[in-house]
Amino acid sequence: MTRRPIIAGNWKMHNLVSDSIALVQEIMNKLSDENINDLPTIVVAPVYTSLYSVNETINKCGCGKIKLGAQNCYFEEKGAFTGEESTQMLKDVGCEYIIIGHSERRGYFNESDEMINKKAKAILNNGLIPIICCGESLEQRENNETDTHIASQIKAALNGLTNEEIEKSVIAYEPIWAIGTGKTCDAIEANRTIKEIRKTIAQISNENTAQAVRILYGGSVKPETIKEQMAQSDIDGALVGGASLKAQSFVDIVLGAKK
Ligand code: PGA
Repeated sequence: MTRRPIIAGNWKMHNLVSDSIALVQEIMNKLSDENINDLPTIVVAPVYTSLYSVNETINKCGCGKIKLGAQNCYFEEKGAFTGEESTQMLKDVGCEYIIIGHSERRGYFNESDEMINKKAKAILNNGLIPIICCGESLEQRENNETDTHIASQIKAALNGLTNEEIEKSVIAYEPIWAIGTGKTCDAIEANRTIKEIRKTIAQISNENTAQAVRILYGGSVKPETIKEQMAQSDIDGALVGGASLKAQSFVDIVLGAKK
């Protein structure tokens, strides 16, 4: 089973429109000599206000190397939901991927597993790809609750999805204690946890589906860590926060993920 690697940059709440355009342009410039077939799928997820302009910049280049992602969405199509964006609206502005269930959304904005499941369904119904985040806190890890916690997050997020929909989805394993802390999860341990995620997926679908789903690692991924991470059997790429905000470090991660 070959799973095409993905490197996704989660820009979080950073960059004005002009900064976003400059960053994606610089990334594309640095990748201009690379053959697209050798590269992982590359996704950048700017803030909502930059999506339109970043999409235009990507399209002007026409190289097809960079895909656009959003950092969140709402599951309803339209209506009186002040401050929210639907998956259709994000598709309209050029998004192909939508990150959901990030621990910052779960933590600061009280997003529940049920909401994340509804968002996953809305994203897939619109022909887009969800990047579904899961991961344990330090306390859960210390209490040996990592595997049970993640299994319950995965079962809830994928509840009611067909095997085909599960196969299209991307999972990001992001231990909360590793996000933005500089403390990367040991690659072997990240791989073990990701194998556990595949076991959970196999339980709710089947082994083929579990082997086909792309599962990323996220949490302080840097150019220096990516090679060891990609050398693991079950890590299919990375969701990158801090290191995606500088073109050089993001490109170094992308090139480090070339198979
Ligand atoms: P980080 O963030 O790379 O800055 O740790 C990862 C993420 O939150 O997706």
